[in-house]
Order: sequence, then structure tokens, then C-alpha cells
Amino acid sequence: MPNTKPEALQKEEIFSKLTGGRVPGHVAIIMDGNGRWAQERNLPRAAGHRAGAENIWRILERFWEHGIGYVTLYAFSTENWNRPQTEVRSLIRLLDRFIKNEMDTFQKNNVQLKHLGHLEQLPLWLQNHIEAAIEATKENDGLVLSICFSYGGRDDLVTALQKIIDSEIPAHAVSEETIHNHLFTAGLPDPDLVIRTAGDQRLSNFLIWQCAYAELYFTDTYWPDFGREDIDLALAEYGRRKRKFGRLLPSDEKRVP
Ligand code: IPE
Ligand code: IPE
Ligand code: MG
Repeated sequence: MPNTKPEALQKEEIFSKLTGGRVPGHVAIIMDGNGRWAQERNLPRAAGHRAGAENIWRILERFWEHGIGYVTLYAFSTENWNRPQTEVRSLIRLLDRFIKNEMDTFQKNNVQLKHLGHLEQLPLWLQNHIEAAIEATKENDGLVLSICFSYGGRDDLVTALQKIIDSEIPAHAVSEETIHNHLFTAGLPDPDLVIRTAGDQRLSNFLIWQCAYAELYFTDTYWPDFGREDIDLALAEYGRRKRKFGRLLPSDEKRVP
């Protein structure tokens, strides 16, 4: 009998089979390769960053179609301050434009915006815009979108330790939970899946505490080209991974003597 279901529904069913119905709750993305994307087209690096910023919305749409609750984007690391001033300035401007342009879309789609990293290291006008956007979206209870800008994993840990010491919590009372509660990511679940585009296989100081048990997925595709189907491939791969958290799987336990 011919399959009479609409094509979109058929595709979703196929996808659900591919992932085994298991999708990550929190996906974190190292959006890399904007520079190489531009270079291959004989364009300035800033054009690559622009194309990268424009890609974000495409991606978010696909994540919420899959019902993913948390998406965290690595947009600018503490080490990226060491890039030429002109590039840093263009990245700062792009972040501002992204937030301004997308405010309506955040509200319409119930997106809650968060910033991870040192806000006070950004120009005051940008701090104000980011804070206003966070405040305006704080009651939204759909997708939580965290933007890491001027974020470094080591800096996150140092800042957390400083806060813990300042709060005079006795050393013996410091637990993993205490550290979690003082990181920029306090209250967010740990990432289940980290995607890095553009071929390099490293974390580059991204969420190093939080990713202790994340599944890592690397693709050669440059960030501006990373599309909806690439997300589906990453999620399908995640669905095939066996997460063990140091334990045995029930099938392995049967083999224990
Ligand atoms: C990622 O693209 C964006 C940032 C790090 C800000 P890159 O600018 O690192 O692109 P490549 O790695 O040079 O291609
Ligand atoms: C990681 O990319 C940071 C972001 C994507 C924001 P980089 O391009 O800065 O990382 P490295 O220098 O290749 O490790
Ligand atoms: Mg790079």
C-alpha cells in the first residue's frame, strides 16, 4: 500500500527512528570556521562572521522543532580578545545587531536569552543592550538560548572559586554542587552534546567543567554552511551513542561473572 502520509511527517518518523527517539536536552555549539569560509570566497573575515551570525536563526528553528530545551553558542572566547582590534570590533557589533534584530523573534518564539561570560568586559552600551534583552525575555519558558561572549572555561572556574571564597563557605563544605551553583551556567543542565564545526577536534576552553560527560561531535562543515540537515546528522549520531557515565550498560551487566 502506498504511504499516503505527508512528506514532512514521513521525514520526522524516519528521523525519530534514526535517533531512537533520544534527543539531547542541551546542545552546545562551537561555531568555528567563519574565517576559512570567507577566505575560500576571497572575502574579508568580517563577511564570514556576518554569514555565521545569519546562520544562527536557521539552526535555532531546527532545534526547537526537535523539542530541544537548551542551546548554548560559543561566540567569542576569552582568548579571542587577542585577535586584531578590527576583527574584535566587528564581532562586538555583530552581537549587538543579532540581539537587536532578533528581539521580536525571541518574543514571538518564547525564547529566553542568557549571557555566559564576563559582561563587564564588553562596551557599556552593549552591556546595556544585552541586559535589556535578558530582562525582556526572562519570563519566556521556551528554548533557553545562552550566548557565550567573552567566555572561557578556565575563567569560569576561577570566577566561581573567587565567589565561593568571598562567600566564606568552609572548604570542607565545598562540593560539586557548590561549584555548579557559582559557575556562569548555574541553574542550567550540563550539555549532553557538543558540536564543533570546521574540522578541529578540541574544546578551545569551552565549558570545560560542564562538558565532563558530554558527547562530542565534530564536523568539517564551516559554521556558515552548517544547516538543518547537519543538525539532523549530529542528532542521529547522538542517538546512536551509548552514554555510560562510568557505569555498565544493562547488557554488559549480564556478562559480569
Ligand atoms: C569562529 O570562526 C568565530 C570566532 C572564533 C569568533 P573563526 O573566526 O575562528 O574562523 P576560522 O577558524 O578562522 O576559520
Ligand atoms: C573557538 O574557536 C571559539 C569560538 C568559536 C568562539 P577559535 O577559532 O577561537 O579556537 P582555536 O583558536 O582554533 O582553538
Ligand atoms: Mg577558529
